[in-house]
Amino acid sequence: MINFKEKIAEVLAEALEGLTREEIKDMLEIPADSKMGDYAFPCFKLAKVMRKAPPMIAQGIAEKLQDSELFAKVESVNAYVNMFLSRDVFVRELVSGVAADQDRYGSSDVGQNRKVIVEFSSPNIAKPFHIGHIRSTVIGNSIYKIYDFLGYDTVRINHLGDYGTQFGKMIVAYRKWGNEADVTNEPIKTLLGYYVKFHEEAENDPSLENEARDVFTKLENGEAEETRLWQWFRDESLKEFNRVYQMLGIEFDSYAGESFYSDKMDRVIGMLKDASLLKESEGAQIVDLEEYNMSPALITKKDGSSLYITRDIAAAVYRKENYDFYKNLYIVASQQNLHFQQWIKIIELLGLDWAKDCVHIPFGLVSLEEGTMSTRHGRVVFLEEVLNRAVNQTKEIILEKNVNTDNLDITAKQVGIGAVIFQELSNNRIKDYVFSWDKVLNFEGETGPYVQYTHARAASLLRNGGESTTKALAAPDKANMSYISGDSAYELAKLVYRFPNAVLDAGEKYEPSVVTRHIVNIAQSFNKFYHDEHILVENEEEKQAKLLLVYAAKQTIQNGLKLLGMEAPERM
Ligand code: ARG
Repeated sequence: MINFKEKIAEVLAEALEGLTREEIKDMLEIPADSKMGDYAFPCFKLAKVMRKAPPMIAQGIAEKLQDSELFAKVESVNAYVNMFLSRDVFVRELVSGVAADQDRYGSSDVGQNRKVIVEFSSPNIAKPFHIGHIRSTVIGNSIYKIYDFLGYDTVRINHLGDYGTQFGKMIVAYRKWGNEADVTNEPIKTLLGYYVKFHEEAENDPSLENEARDVFTKLENGEAEETRLWQWFRDESLKEFNRVYQMLGIEFDSYAGESFYSDKMDRVIGMLKDASLLKESEGAQIVDLEEYNMSPALITKKDGSSLYITRDIAAAVYRKENYDFYKNLYIVASQQNLHFQQWIKIIELLGLDWAKDCVHIPFGLVSLEEGTMSTRHGRVVFLEEVLNRAVNQTKEIILEKNVNTDNLDITAKQVGIGAVIFQELSNNRIKDYVFSWDKVLNFEGETGPYVQYTHARAASLLRNGGESTTKALAAPDKANMSYISGDSAYELAKLVYRFPNAVLDAGEKYEPSVVTRHIVNIAQSFNKFYHDEHILVENEEEKQAKLLLVYAAKQTIQNGLKLLGMEAPERM
């Protein structure tokens, strides 16, 4: 892929003595106002070395650059050299680059295959996904895709909440009031029901609590019958979660959750002891974090059983040893900020220098517009129902609008589910937002359907271009791009050109919304171009040039959608 900064630095280095290409590259600016050029080179810092006033220097450079075919125009304005790329050269290089890279356009090898762990989703077994898990799932999947695209070696981990005293309760409830068929048919609803029933009954009969505790102890001791039931609950729940992951097109490399670390607790507790970090407090073991203005971290309970944070410490140690990660990312709601602050502090206090490579990536809350997601089952949200509703409503819209599709069911799925994903990834992740169906499924706003629709419109232009499209794509470097002279066409080309940068930026900030916004901008810019100019014109050269730009925009939107975890239908 062409890098214009590189090219410009090369040309400038010839016109300038004493500065290296790297130094020049660092000094190059992209003016906020495109009237000041596509690139600008400030000359203030050169005054000393060159013993000239900066405006004079700028003028000298501008004169030397006049003949370069890279530029349409070079001006000096005060101490700046303002450079306007030759649109012709720029657009030709760009479309050739996109055509060469195709679905890899925007990717990079900055990751150098370094290992990045992306932990996301992590629901609790036997409980429905809550809205925070939905966000974690969608944001985490996109962060994984972005890191993968940037050349990192990624591992997706689902740190399942598959352990804890609640399993004692569930087993007791199952034995007393449950039956096998219900669990198999509707595992999560059934198991949740057992849990609720247990608490109702325990109000009148406190002995149930003791019974549950005993059962949990048996489970901890690995007794066969309890372990079998626990394993079965886990398997059945996972089947149900997997149905949702499948709808979303999401996979994991590992489901090592809390239970996975059971046999790794003693070692962690030993490490904490050796570092003199453990303190006894009312029979429990804690790490006192007062010095760091945090409440104490509870490591083991009175009965010796270990806790959430202890398992997270064990998980981090295990991941370092097993994967030797470059980065270990946790996509978990901001409600758990304190937990992760305590956890990272403890890892630091253990003297583990890779603590700096562990990152909690928090996100804000979603609130629900009245009536939005409440379901027959009370306040808990069943993600599957949300997704099904999105698909059904999309189907209605498609029929109403008479949208042309290859297959109504498939398109409704791609658009409906895509709409939910897109909405999740539209704002900065840390911002709280209100989920609203009208906003999500709107074909005109800054929404998933809008971007997908624009992509399909571009696809349709390419199809209608027929032979001309084929010819243009066979030799993009031969195209006469001087036809891409209108402002809206050129703006579109510039946005396509900046896509790889947006991907990098999204990765650095762990912020998929950078990609979301960028493809919204491309879609809007594309639609402006489409509105301003006739594309399938008589003149063959002009038609091919325009089709190449359409192709570049379409491919870029598609690559962006994929990074968000969405599909890009060819027709809708
Ligand atoms: N299962 C937890 C919950 O639902 C989230 C786990 C987050 N990940 C972690 N490593 N603590 O709240």
